[in-house]
Amino acid sequence: MTLLQNLESRLSRALENVLGEPCAANMTPAADLRFGDYQSNSAMVLAKKQKTNPRALAEQIMAAVEIDGLATAKIDGPGFLNFTILPEAYAAHAERLLGDPRLGAPEPGKGKTVVVDFSAPNVAKPMHVGHIRSTIIGDSLCRIARFLGFEVIADNHIGDWGTQFGMILHGWKTTLDHTALEADPISELVRVYRGVNAAAKDDPAVLETCKAELVKLQAGDPENLAIWQQCIDVSKAGLQKIYGILDVSFDHWLGESFYNGMLPGLVYEFLEKGLARESDGAVCVFSDGAKPAEQDPFLVHKENGWTDNPAIIRKADGGFLYATTDLATIRYRIEEWNADEIWYVVGMPQQLHFRQIFEAAARWGKTCDFRHIAFGSILGEDRKMMKTRSGDNVGLVELLDEARARAAAIIGEKSAHLSPEEAAEVADIVGIGAVKFAELSQNRLTDYVFAWDRMLALQGDTAPYLQYSHVRIRSIFRKLDADFSAKDAKLTLSAPEEIHLARLLARFGEVLPLVLEDHRPNLLANYLLELARAFHSFFEACPVLKSVEPMKSSRLALCELSSRVLEKGLGLLGIRCPERM
Ligand code: ARG
Repeated sequence: MTLLQNLESRLSRALENVLGEPCAANMTPAADLRFGDYQSNSAMVLAKKQKTNPRALAEQIMAAVEIDGLATAKIDGPGFLNFTILPEAYAAHAERLLGDPRLGAPEPGKGKTVVVDFSAPNVAKPMHVGHIRSTIIGDSLCRIARFLGFEVIADNHIGDWGTQFGMILHGWKTTLDHTALEADPISELVRVYRGVNAAAKDDPAVLETCKAELVKLQAGDPENLAIWQQCIDVSKAGLQKIYGILDVSFDHWLGESFYNGMLPGLVYEFLEKGLARESDGAVCVFSDGAKPAEQDPFLVHKENGWTDNPAIIRKADGGFLYATTDLATIRYRIEEWNADEIWYVVGMPQQLHFRQIFEAAARWGKTCDFRHIAFGSILGEDRKMMKTRSGDNVGLVELLDEARARAAAIIGEKSAHLSPEEAAEVADIVGIGAVKFAELSQNRLTDYVFAWDRMLALQGDTAPYLQYSHVRIRSIFRKLDADFSAKDAKLTLSAPEEIHLARLLARFGEVLPLVLEDHRPNLLANYLLELARAFHSFFEACPVLKSVEPMKSSRLALCELSSRVLEKGLGLLGIRCPERM
């Protein structure tokens, strides 16, 4: 149980005593430590409901709350209930955490299945840095959800069936370089696609050929199907390599093509149930008028007021669309995987698409907690969309290579004590960690500026700073002449820096569920920075190796717990910790 939960349940009991009926308490970490560690506005909320004096009610509640040995309490302002945890309670809590592999994290996801839809690049189209956000955020959310007890299904819904295949098929048959394909399949397919795309712009005959290739593919032509399958296979192999570097994995790769066979029946069902109707030959889902216009995804505001903005699920030519596939995907995930929640980690521009399919799925009776976890863009240091020197979008592979090269240069300079192999491994861990942390420490909805020097700085709000902090703590234990067992350590906290460190260590299990409330890994990232800073202040103010027992063991135990929380927390962001650096 976290300290927050502990206080919350004590307050609930007090409320029940005072009110004579069960009542849930509100409790949050205090925004300002001068008032205490935790704060509740329950007295004010209840007083408002009962139209009584909040301060008088607060006093009654405080008199009833049993917090001896845990905290002191006082009433502030109009009726805030403020609690300050006692140093000995923090010490006892830290001792418990040292014996707990979960480090105090609760399991709010127990019994729930969540499908996380993330990364999902499109085969043979360039995978740009925008996809990096989805991949990194999605992977971290999977790790956190799994740790908090959810049954997590990570699904890479790749775009492996689209109109781009007309061009790829034509390009494959005319301009493919087989050696290049073997060396770097993703780049070669992108090159082929771009070439045909450009040619088709100048020459309508090329476009017609591409369309004919696509029609043949969709009709099941064996030659085209075989080429298509080969494209998918080599692309997947190329993607696996990138995911390997990033240490990201999926439980399934059910791309768009997987749902092909289900689409005709789905449209038929929508028509039959009156969920969709024909309009100019296409089949569309329209507004049902149940929602206020502002909230209705099937309406849009134009000069003349609100007009229809339907989701097309079958085109007049019989073709199916992104929305059709996504509806089939929803049914599959709910019926086959028993999904209670589905999280889509996809950029902001697709917001309308998701609002429409969530609404259509709900009308269709597919009940599930759907979340579109949107994010903004990555900008270059000039604050424009990030481009390479030649003006292209920056590819993920180049970006990751550069991250590792830059980290290697820094490590080479600062860590001459490492062997070349060790230095190379550390450079990988630091470079990739820096890119991930730069992403995860941002509010996902804001655009962020990709700045190499800032994200790799050893002093700053960076992964290398956290990794270095961890290394520094581990090095304390290497300097120890006797074995130290944290399990049996007794803690005594007296210096304010010690108390503050213990306070933050206790918060780990409280921060994690907050991350999942609004799918914001930046809360964890920022917590870890705060923890590392608290550690450094502690380490500066409180001698560890030079102190005498029992203080030495107590402080070593704080060090041990700090390193465990840092390592676990970084791990939940998908970032590894080197032993030395
Ligand atoms: N392939 C899409 C893109 O790159 C993202 C797919 C997201 N997932 C989904 N179920 N729609 O834009």
